[in-house]
Amino acid sequence: MPLQGPEELDALDRGIAALEQRRNELGDDVVDTALRPLLERRRRLVASGERRKLVTVLVADLVGSTPLTEALGAEAMREVIGRYFGHWREAVHEQGGEVEKFIGDAVVGVFGMGQAREDDPHRAVRAAVSVRPALARLADEVRARHGQVMSTRVGIDTGEVVLGRFDEWGDGDLVVVGGAANVAARLQTAAPPDGILLSAATARHVRGSFGLQDHGELELRGVDRPVRTFLVHSAAGSGFWSTSRGLEGVSTRTVGREAELARLTALFEDTVAERRSAVVTVVGDAGLGKTRLLADLESWLAGLPDPAWLLRGRAEPAHEGSPHAVLRSAFADRFGIRDTDPPDQVLAAWRRGMAAMAAGSVEGIEDVAAWLGFPVAEEAGAGRDVDPAALQRRARVALEAAVHAMCREAPVVLLLEDLHWADRPLLDLLTDLQARPRPLPLLVVATTRPPLLEEHPHWGEGLPGHHELRLRPLSGRDTARLVEEVLQRADEVPDWVRTLVVDTAEGNPFFVEEVLAWLVDVGAVRTTADRWTVSPTPVRPGTVPGTLRALLQARLDAVPSPERDLVDRASVVGRVFWDAAVDHLGTVSAAAPAEAYDELRRREVVHQRPTSAFADAREFAFRHVLLRDVAYDGLLTPHRRRFHARAADWLARTALESGRPDEHAGAVAHHLVAAG
Ligand SMILES: Nc1ncnc2c1ncn2[C@@H]1O[C@H](COP(=O)(O)OP(=O)(O)O)[C@@H](O)[C@H]1O
Ligand SMILES: [Mg+2]
Repeated sequence: MPLQGPEELDALDRGIAALEQRRNELGDDVVDTALRPLLERRRRLVASGERRKLVTVLVADLVGSTPLTEALGAEAMREVIGRYFGHWREAVHEQGGEVEKFIGDAVVGVFGMGQAREDDPHRAVRAAVSVRPALARLADEVRARHGQVMSTRVGIDTGEVVLGRFDEWGDGDLVVVGGAANVAARLQTAAPPDGILLSAATARHVRGSFGLQDHGELELRGVDRPVRTFLVHSAAGSGFWSTSRGLEGVSTRTVGREAELARLTALFEDTVAERRSAVVTVVGDAGLGKTRLLADLESWLAGLPDPAWLLRGRAEPAHEGSPHAVLRSAFADRFGIRDTDPPDQVLAAWRRGMAAMAAGSVEGIEDVAAWLGFPVAEEAGAGRDVDPAALQRRARVALEAAVHAMCREAPVVLLLEDLHWADRPLLDLLTDLQARPRPLPLLVVATTRPPLLEEHPHWGEGLPGHHELRLRPLSGRDTARLVEEVLQRADEVPDWVRTLVVDTAEGNPFFVEEVLAWLVDVGAVRTTADRWTVSPTPVRPGTVPGTLRALLQARLDAVPSPERDLVDRASVVGRVFWDAAVDHLGTVSAAAPAEAYDELRRREVVHQRPTSAFADAREFAFRHVLLRDVAYDGLLTPHRRRFHARAADWLARTALESGRPDEHAGAVAHHLVAAG
């Protein structure tokens, strides 16, 4: 795959600079004439908005297509290939990926191209797993008709690529080049027939969600270091609480959430004592420990002498547009219903489960199942209404009756995860419950990231059945305690590790774990023996660890383009930046409107600092160093250099005007060095 994009830009920049240097010698006319086409070409490349990006690339290829074509004949082969591509296209699209191209018989699917999602690696693996039955049917046909074996190999990698819309390459199509695309293609050739081979980078994201088998280290052509690889051997998900986080094989005690847990258990005791339902919304950024808090609540509930009914539902980005997915998942989890179960089995499990939990009231429960979207309508004759509104009315009455019946037996606790991905109907249901608490020992604990509250600013406000619990970042001391927890097998944890983690993780436990996992990856923490050892000499993170990056990149990708450009420029100025500096970095003195900063603040990307180092500029800071780093890493070198040069210029001038050039001399030097 070509690597022209950024390299061409670099070459152009060098050419332009060389011409500029010879302006005296050659004269303006000559130089300007020579420059014109170069500048034009450069403008087009830059306008294409190409960026480095973390994506997951899937490459699939047919094994032995040449003998297959010979045996089938060109025409039959064309038809088979057409269907083969069709299945892949469908599977990739269904998971929200894009098929970048078909090269020969190979399929290249990319996840995270436009809007990155933190579960892109999962989506890619799910696509590869879900297409298997259709491909197996096609292979059966080919075997029956032509006596030929047809198998597919798949390689998947997560990493950086350069994305661009280059006019010269097709009709402004997106082009993916470099890194991950290359590795995925090599993994594909190294995979066994009908195998799905993952790089360690992809495996790290999806472990816990798929059964993986270590496939050893492979030397891949065109990749300098050996790549550790994993084969997907089953699609079986793990339990409800994802095990994909944290350091492998280390279990930690929860630090610094005693008050939060106490608040939840007190609310539970209140609902039981007063027989009055309550809804708690646990709000916190990704990684702050919402899921962990629910898991701790669950352990606490499990230790009670009188057990409670527990239901656990989770919203997922993949469920977009499936209105009752969260409640459905709660019941599916409780009754052991899987997506792949045939309808008669689903209905039987549903009836059994409901009879056990809500023995007193099973009237109309098939309606509930149909309304939630379980495939039982035909089996049970339920949901026969063409009118969904009528079904909904009946189902809600039946559900409410069933919940009353459950509550007569024991208190009911409903845990709802990741409400920010939930659909309207669930939110309406919860709002109703908050507005009219029921005389029931029913506690709903829902977790969400802040965006939910941005979209529904008055969520639960003033409603009698509503409580909000904000998770704050861990204090520095608790962060240090968490470091000790994670590194519990190390004899000694040097100070530099604590300092590094406290500085970069900013109280976010997920970040703490990821930074430590990164230290393991780079060999600063050796985990080979029973006793771990930590290097006494400090290392500095040069790049943001991959899993973290996925999370942060998803947030940045959600930022619309004018603000996103601002973020890119600001990232060059630094963690702390000034609006006037960012304006100075722009091309045609395009001052960013004040609203752009408001938008970034609302999205919790930046915050404004109470005072500014410069009188005529507002001072801002990225909410996390790592957020800044991810934006910065996404810029191509030529853009970075240009921005650094302008930042040096602005800072030097402004510092001089403010009469304190010395304070900023170091920063100016840094920008000059980075400008090259
Ligand atoms: N207070 C804590 N003490 C120890 N580990 C924690 C704590 N909070 C979170 N973690 C760990 O940090 C990671 C992220 O937490 P998680 O609960 O998944 O965050 P969220 O659900 O808010 O995105 C998990 O591995 C979790 O076990
Ligand atoms: Mg969570």
